[in-house]
Amino acid sequence: MPHVENAQRHAGSTRSGAITATATHPETATGRSVGAAVSRGGWLAATLPVAAVVSAVAVLLLALRVGGALTQSIPGLPDPGPVTTWALPVARLLADATATLTVGLLATAAFLLPGDGPSVSPYGYLLRRRAGLAAAAWAGSALALIVLTVSDLLGVPVGRLNVPTVVSYATSISQGQALLVQAGLAAAAAALARAGVSRDSAALAAALATVAVVPPAFTGHAAGAGNHQIAVSSLTLHVLGAALWVGGLAALLMIRRATVLADVANRYSRLALGCFAAVAVSGMANAAVRLGTPAQLWQSRYGWLILGKLAALLILGVFGAAHRRRTIPQLRAGRRGAFTRLAAGELVVFAAAVGLAVALSRSPTPVPDPGTDADPLTALLGFGMPAAPTPGNLLGQPLPDLLFLAASLAGAASYLVGVGRLRKAGHHWPIARTASWLAGILVFAAATGLGFARYAYVLFSAHMAQHMVLAMLVPILLVGGAPVTLALRALRRPTDPQVRGIRQWLLRGVHSPVTRLLTHPLVALGIYTGSLFGLYFSDLLGTLMRSHLGHVAMLVHFVASGYLLFWVLIGIDPGRPRIPHPFLVLIHLAAMMAHGFFGLALMQTTTVIAPDWYTSVHPGWASSLLDDQKLGAGIAWAFGEIPAAVVMILLVRQWIQADQREQRRLDRAADRAEATGEDDDLTRYNAFLAAAGEQEARRRPTR
Ligand code: HEM
Repeated sequence: MPHVENAQRHAGSTRSGAITATATHPETATGRSVGAAVSRGGWLAATLPVAAVVSAVAVLLLALRVGGALTQSIPGLPDPGPVTTWALPVARLLADATATLTVGLLATAAFLLPGDGPSVSPYGYLLRRRAGLAAAAWAGSALALIVLTVSDLLGVPVGRLNVPTVVSYATSISQGQALLVQAGLAAAAAALARAGVSRDSAALAAALATVAVVPPAFTGHAAGAGNHQIAVSSLTLHVLGAALWVGGLAALLMIRRATVLADVANRYSRLALGCFAAVAVSGMANAAVRLGTPAQLWQSRYGWLILGKLAALLILGVFGAAHRRRTIPQLRAGRRGAFTRLAAGELVVFAAAVGLAVALSRSPTPVPDPGTDADPLTALLGFGMPAAPTPGNLLGQPLPDLLFLAASLAGAASYLVGVGRLRKAGHHWPIARTASWLAGILVFAAATGLGFARYAYVLFSAHMAQHMVLAMLVPILLVGGAPVTLALRALRRPTDPQVRGIRQWLLRGVHSPVTRLLTHPLVALGIYTGSLFGLYFSDLLGTLMRSHLGHVAMLVHFVASGYLLFWVLIGIDPGRPRIPHPFLVLIHLAAMMAHGFFGLALMQTTTVIAPDWYTSVHPGWASSLLDDQKLGAGIAWAFGEIPAAVVMILLVRQWIQADQREQRRLDRAADRAEATGEDDDLTRYNAFLAAAGEQEARRRPTR
């Protein structure tokens, strides 16, 4: 349905999307019924949701008019009718609001609230029940968005739409597929939220809901924009930050007991600060792509809406500071009033910001989406064809992906904070590990963000070089940093043992059955080599190169599969199974051979891999597709040698060190036995051999 695709670029994307709850189970647990506590705060529980909805809808309608999204229907252009014109932005607002609530309530129940042993606390139970309802509403509004978007794109009123058209849109057009996936994930989160009481299932439901927020960001308005790497990754970071920030606050307002709230609000406040920064930076990055020039901030209607959001952000920043300085200390003193009033006001401002956001996503942008009038290559790549590679071009003209950049910054900053904490506590942390970790982060950021990343889109050889760097060099360096060991030493234990902080979740993750399975050397080897052959000797590469989500997932997989294998081979972090070194050497040799064989097999291929993609992006200045592919094969073959040799040296060194440790242990035992006259292992072993010898002698008939 190509005409739908084109129309989609001009009409904008979809995204996800409120409260009803019946507290049942927690009543018994807390003695004093939560329901009664809720009713005591009746005026707030009653008015706040209404105030938030009114604020969001009022700002939405005003912003739609200001932003020019509600222009008169143009004669000759199909008009979807008033129902769609009004219902679409409202359905989107509902989807955004319920998505935000689902993520915030589940994250608070699983990670911020203290639990009750393996189960969530009574408040946690209340929040996850309400999250289940919000998630169900979210799934419903995502499905409604599919129908309304088709009606809007085709200019056909909902009543006159036929089912096959809607189904074909939902199953074959990326935007429709994203909404369908979102609806499915939201429904799964709803079921899980209402199914169990364990903290693990609450954490799983929270993870599902967080993932469900993402797909539309990769396919909507942002995907059609120029520079779509920045547009898409910034919007993804933006909606994730906004969902946690707004939803977390809504969850706090449902916790009535000041004593419980004080600690949770403190933990939330740290999270909110991170979300504030993420929403601000990603919002500005996204706005920059669409505005084109700063002057458009006051010269365009879109810019005015952005100014509105900036104002909202500043107000929310002031609220946040006031909470830290005034209301949270009062909460600790058992006084809840100030916090509730300020948080309620904050939620109304948030609602207005989300209303503005939906209007933004429906409004024409100063930088028109390249859509049909731009050359198809720029529309496909999200950037113009780079000139022939030179050192300047490979290092310059960066192609930053905000997700990768944010991950790199967070990875480097949290590691350095950890080292700083250990140092402050007087503990030693080898500088080599810090250097290894930071080098890994740097190489990762360079391989995914410098000019080189542009060539990895258009040349198979550059793609293969990127693959090798991300699957071998980066993981070896990161594994050398021993991040889990550092985290477990540097992270503080929460004062309340019932709270599962990052450290507790990390320990659970490291010792979980899933980690045990993944770190089995044969499984790690299988994933590593299987992805090599699976990606290049199937149609998968072409499919993944065509979608931004696919491309990001592919690069993340390169790093993750490499990290897993090298963690098993040379990692020192806990959670890695104890495997005899000779077996590890065998596994490494097997990985090297598979890698070498892969390079050779690739060199032998006479057909172009991912022909659709590489034919449509092949640069005029490059050698033929097959020649470039052979170069890529050579890179795969040769590149593997150096890191593999380094790993072998590290493996053998660890083997020798382990032997020396064992020898020292045996010596200490022998010394101890000598000192105490007890038999040590050696003595016992010799005694065993002697006894076995005597027995043998007794059995053998005397000649
Ligand atoms: C104040 C807190 C904020 C919240 C809660 C918020 C929330 C959101 C949400 C939920 C969306 C996705 C809307 C949709 O597509 O359905 C969005 C989109 C967006 N936001 Fe924000 N945002 C905030 C602040 C900002 C700021 C400060 C900026 C810019 C400086 C910004 C710029 C954008 C842009 C450009 C989009 C994309 C709109 C489009 O698709 O064209 N946001 N925001």
